[in-house]
Amino acid sequence: MSAAAADAAKRRAAVAAVAAHVRSGMAVGLGTGSTATPAVEEIGRLLAAGELAGIVGVPTSERTAEVARRVGIPLATLAERPRLDLAIDGADEIAPGLDLIKGLGGALLREKVVASAAASLVIVADASKRVDRLGTRAPVPVEVIGFALAVVAPELESLGCAVALRRGADGEPFATDEGNRILDCRFPAGIEAPDRLANAIRSIPGVVEHGLFLGLAREAYVAGPDGVEHLAAV
Ligand code: A5P
Repeated sequence: MSAAAADAAKRRAAVAAVAAHVRSGMAVGLGTGSTATPAVEEIGRLLAAGELAGIVGVPTSERTAEVARRVGIPLATLAERPRLDLAIDGADEIAPGLDLIKGLGGALLREKVVASAAASLVIVADASKRVDRLGTRAPVPVEVIGFALAVVAPELESLGCAVALRRGADGEPFATDEGNRILDCRFPAGIEAPDRLANAIRSIPGVVEHGLFLGLAREAYVAGPDGVEHLAAV
C-alpha cells in the first residue's frame, strides 16, 4: 500500500469510529499517532460544523494537545474530568480478542491512563496492524525512569527479548512527555503468554508502564482496501 493509500485508510477508520461513538456532551480521550490524529481532526470538524457540541477532550500527549487546539476542541485535564465516556486511539498491533501493543509513538503511559479512565477504548487502525500473535511485528515498548535503565534492561532481556534504548531523530535517547526513557523489547518468535509477560515486566522496579494493552479495547475500526471492518472483543 502506498503512503497516500495508507493515510486514506487511516482516515477512513478514524471517521468511522467518530461517527459511531462520539456524541455531544462527551468527555473523550484523544489518542496519539497518525491514525488517532484524523479522529481528533474529525471531532474538530464536526464541532465547527455544529454537528457536535459540548465535547471536552483529554489528550494523551503534548502532540495531540496541539492538534486538538488547532482544530478547536476544548481540552481538560484528568483532574478536571477523571471519568471519560470514551477514548479513541491507534495501535501498533491488534491481536484476536483486541489485545494490543501500543507505544511506538512514545505516548503509551498517558495512553494507558486515559484508556483506563474511559468507559470504553475504541481503536482505529489500518489493516497492516492485525497480527495473529502479539510481538510478531512490533516490539513491546517499556517506559522506564532514566535512573533505572541500566538495571531494568538486563531484567527485560532475561524475559527472552532483545532490548534497545529508543532514540529520537537526533540520535539522543527519546524522552517521553513524562521525562522517562523507552526500552523497546523485541521478541524473536512473538509473545506466547502476554498476561504473564505483562506481570513480569510490571514487577521490575524502575518500570513505569509497558505497551501491552490487554483486555482494555472493546471495539476496533480497521481500514483495508475493501472498506472499514468493525471488530468487537468477545
Ligand atoms: C502512540 O504512543 C502509539 O501508541 C500509537 O497509538 C500507535 O503507535 C499507533 O500509531 P499510528 O496510528 O501512527 O500507527
